[in-house]
Amino acid sequence: MENLVFLTVIVLISIFPAATSSSAGLEQGFLQCFQAILGKSTTSELIFTKSSSSYESLLNSSIRNARFLNSSVPKPNLIVTPDSLFQIQVALLCSKKNGLQVRVRSGGHDYEGLSYVSHLPFIIIDLLNLRSITINMDEESAWVQSGATVGELYYAIAKKSKVHGFPAGSCSTIGVGGHLSGGGFGTVFRKYGLASDNVIDAQIIDVNGKILNRTLMGEDLFWAIRGGGGSSFGVITAWKIKLVHVPSTVTVFDVSRTLDQGATDLFHKWQTVAPKLPAELFLHTVVGVSNSASHGGKTVVVSFTGLYLGTAENLLPLMRNNFPELGLQHNNFTQMTWIKSVLYFAGYSIDESLEVLLRKNQTSSSFKAKSDYVKEAIPLVGLEGLWKMLLLENSPLLIFTPYGGIMSEISESEIPFPHRKGNLYGIQYSVNLVSNEEAPNHLDWIRRLYEYLEPFVSKLPRQAYFNYRDLDLGVNQGNSGYENAKSWGLKYFNENFERLALVKSRVDPGNFFRDEQSIPPL
Ligand SMILES: Cc1cc2nc3c(=O)[nH]c(=O)nc-3n(C[C@H](O)[C@H](O)[C@H](O)COP(=O)(O)OP(=O)(O)OC[C@H]3O[C@@H](n4cnc5c(N)ncnc54)[C@H](O)[C@@H]3O)c2cc1C
Ligand SMILES: *[C@@H]1O[C@H](CO)[C@@H](O)[C@H](O)[C@H]1NC(C)=O
Ligand SMILES: *[C@@H]1O[C@H](CO)[C@@H](O)[C@H](O)[C@H]1NC(C)=O
Ligand SMILES: *[C@@H]1O[C@H](CO)[C@@H](O)[C@H](O)[C@H]1NC(C)=O
Ligand SMILES: *[C@@H]1O[C@H](CO)[C@@H](O)[C@H](O)[C@H]1NC(C)=O
Ligand SMILES: *[C@@H]1O[C@H](CO)[C@@H](O)[C@H](O)[C@H]1NC(C)=O
Repeated sequence: MENLVFLTVIVLISIFPAATSSSAGLEQGFLQCFQAILGKSTTSELIFTKSSSSYESLLNSSIRNARFLNSSVPKPNLIVTPDSLFQIQVALLCSKKNGLQVRVRSGGHDYEGLSYVSHLPFIIIDLLNLRSITINMDEESAWVQSGATVGELYYAIAKKSKVHGFPAGSCSTIGVGGHLSGGGFGTVFRKYGLASDNVIDAQIIDVNGKILNRTLMGEDLFWAIRGGGGSSFGVITAWKIKLVHVPSTVTVFDVSRTLDQGATDLFHKWQTVAPKLPAELFLHTVVGVSNSASHGGKTVVVSFTGLYLGTAENLLPLMRNNFPELGLQHNNFTQMTWIKSVLYFAGYSIDESLEVLLRKNQTSSSFKAKSDYVKEAIPLVGLEGLWKMLLLENSPLLIFTPYGGIMSEISESEIPFPHRKGNLYGIQYSVNLVSNEEAPNHLDWIRRLYEYLEPFVSKLPRQAYFNYRDLDLGVNQGNSGYENAKSWGLKYFNENFERLALVKSRVDPGNFFRDEQSIPPL
């Protein structure tokens, strides 16, 4: 039905003249095109130009890396906030017609700001009004629109059931649109896999403005958008996901050790223990530095934080048998419901009301992050060098995520996300850039850390997680094609990269949907 209306519109619009090429001209052309189809009042409600009073607050509202709030960062000519699929179809058509780039924003968490920054004249299609979540308890499935956050999804599931959940990321403000199209892991991914592994259907608007479901888009495109990133293929408007079973009681713990308290040996052991633990037990480490007097000056602090899908009583023998050195006792554990553990890992007190999980505007820090995968434990001498590097920085934050469990059982080509069997853990490292004046030093530091880690991490290619986007790995320039893009493409997707480029060639041969790290046509 929507496709039919849309076809009529394409015929209508072809009678309007194309706009002039100045930036303001492009904008005018777009507005005229949009208005001609949707009318003046809809246009003024949905579209924000630089002269609209709420343009700036809307733009700022989901910038999740303050590095890209800076006034010298290029801004969109227009922001469109559709509340129907038809409006997205029209926005695509009018952008194409006027030579404007399109950036699609769901939750705005892109590490390099690609959902809202472009160096060409562009519009943002911001999906903040497309957030419906429809749960089918009989089928244990849900349709989720891309503008919803994972917090809203967890909230909606919890309102229906205490024993169902979904395996996605920990930070509640992440958008479903970017997250599910780029992988998505969290505290139960060793048991259930990635968010992308649990997608069973999707709705996408392609470059021709067609609305496609799984059957209509075909298995190759359906494969590509579950981990290969949405921004190369179209506007994904909704996802159908499989809910997973969680027990009514889960157990959480968090213990920290400084270097003086034996953190190095514990971390060394953690590297091989955590990936082999039962899939129900997630035990990650968060490493930072502390300057507190109680720690006797500046030191590295390693936090061992766990979620067990079961009771404290069953967790205790598991920890004693597998990791006795950590010395955990019954009173170190806190039992709670699954949804409380979501609050916990999102950084809230477990006594907060669940409404804190709903979408909100919040300020974020200015940061730079990078990622790696580790296949062999880093030796003690390597860890000592790593700690030395960390002590040079004020606010380093490293998160080490254990793999194994079901992640080792899913084949590397099942979806574009290739990091499966053979990985002990993934590393995310980040640094707070604090203020722009200081930024070059912090950036330099994190790049040196990347160099330092080279001997200890995956090689040929040195792998990276697509959802932790890192433009240092390489960028598309002009029409530099597939060969150039291998520099970053193989790191994110390994052997799946070529297949992604093949899909791209079929669904968007003209490369309309593109950004600094979009998949080029083959
Ligand atoms: C604070 C923070 C915590 C995080 N925690 C985790 C975590 O626990 N686990 C994890 O796996 N990742 C985590 N991430 C990374 C996160 O998964 C990615 O940044 C993800 O891409 C964010 O999705 P988004 O919709 O919020 O981002 P956006 O910036 O809106 O989008 C990201 C990319 O996807 C594209 N895109 C977005 N929506 C669509 C759509 N509907 N159709 C087509 N393309 C689209 C954008 O154009 C952009 O290229 C975290 C990020 C941050 C900033
Ligand atoms: C948006 O962010 C910029 C940069 O921090 C700031 O100068 C501006 O005041 C913000 N605008 C609004 C309306 O919040
Ligand atoms: C967040 O920002 C958007 C865009 O400016 C605005 O419409 C919305 O009301 C804000 N939400 C809250 C909770 O402040
Ligand atoms: C914005 O960032 C650039 C590059 O990091 C920097 O040179 C400039 O001073 C910043 N501008 C403002 C207004 O902060
Ligand atoms: C996909 O859409 C087509 C056409 O509207 C419809 O016939 C088909 O049932 C849909 N497939 C699924 C799995 O919903
Ligand atoms: C763990 O329990 C022991 C014994 O009660 C206690 O001494 C220790 O402080 C606890 N550790 C944490 C991190 O709660």
